[in-house]
Amino acid sequence: MGLSLSPLPGQSEFGVVVTGFEIGMLDDPAIRQQIHDLWIDKGVVVFREFSGLESQLKLSELFGHNQSHPMLRDADMPEEMKISVNIDEGVGGTYMVDGEERSGWLAWHKDSMYTDEINHGGVLWSIDVPERGGETGFIDQIAAWEALPDDLKARCEGLNLLYVYSLDSIESKFGNRPESRVGFSKYMSTTAPFAKLARVVHPMVFTQPETGRKVLNVCPWFAAGIEGMENEEGDALLREVIAHLLAPGREYYHRWVPGEMVLWDNWRMLHCACGTPTGMKRLMRRTTIFGDYALGRKEKIAEPA
Ligand SMILES: [Fe+2]
Repeated sequence: MGLSLSPLPGQSEFGVVVTGFEIGMLDDPAIRQQIHDLWIDKGVVVFREFSGLESQLKLSELFGHNQSHPMLRDADMPEEMKISVNIDEGVGGTYMVDGEERSGWLAWHKDSMYTDEINHGGVLWSIDVPERGGETGFIDQIAAWEALPDDLKARCEGLNLLYVYSLDSIESKFGNRPESRVGFSKYMSTTAPFAKLARVVHPMVFTQPETGRKVLNVCPWFAAGIEGMENEEGDALLREVIAHLLAPGREYYHRWVPGEMVLWDNWRMLHCACGTPTGMKRLMRRTTIFGDYALGRKEKIAEPA
């Protein structure tokens, strides 16, 4: 009994689609190993026709324990389940994007990059899907590194980036921004304590330990600058790298159907939420897979002389 695998539609560099998967298969050590290896090798794993809270928890626990997502909390869920819930109206703001009002729009990012420990991944489960919109975008930072011109690679190696928590993408210094903000959901107030977080530092490039491949570790939404180069030259370099990272053609937008799950590697993939046209319903649940790649740290503030 094996998994049935196929490529992500229109995407040759990352991702895989698994069909015929059932929760009972997770009891087979060989299948568990295969799914873990696919996660590391492919970055995004789509499980067609796979749904249910028990299935979601069991799948995510394969990779370690679940944790709460710092921006997502749901009082209705038992704490011991350690699951974070993403109801579309519960995360992100409502913005004007491409001339349309959309809720739950999120700029390109890696989860928790504004903390010194970034979670290793997540699992999203689609329950209600709007008739249009609501896609989740992914960009592979291994493929982006490999495509980076050699002179830029040389300039990026050894640099560290500063990150700061920002709730509103309109205020993002380096990220992609919506046209205007319509409002925030009532759930967004739960994130207020993060506004006081100190800045953190993450390497601009790191090596995926299992494969030796390099990852262009840049999170545009929360980036504040290059450590030691918070000047015109550093900002120009960072903007050049982000333009490369977000260049058209690199992204895959997952068009959801009800009753499937997507697992991704947050250490390697950028993701974004395209938002749902106002008035349409979208319901997702997500788990957040704990992890610490141990390369992040809090910014060192120089003592006054
Ligand atoms: Fe996210």
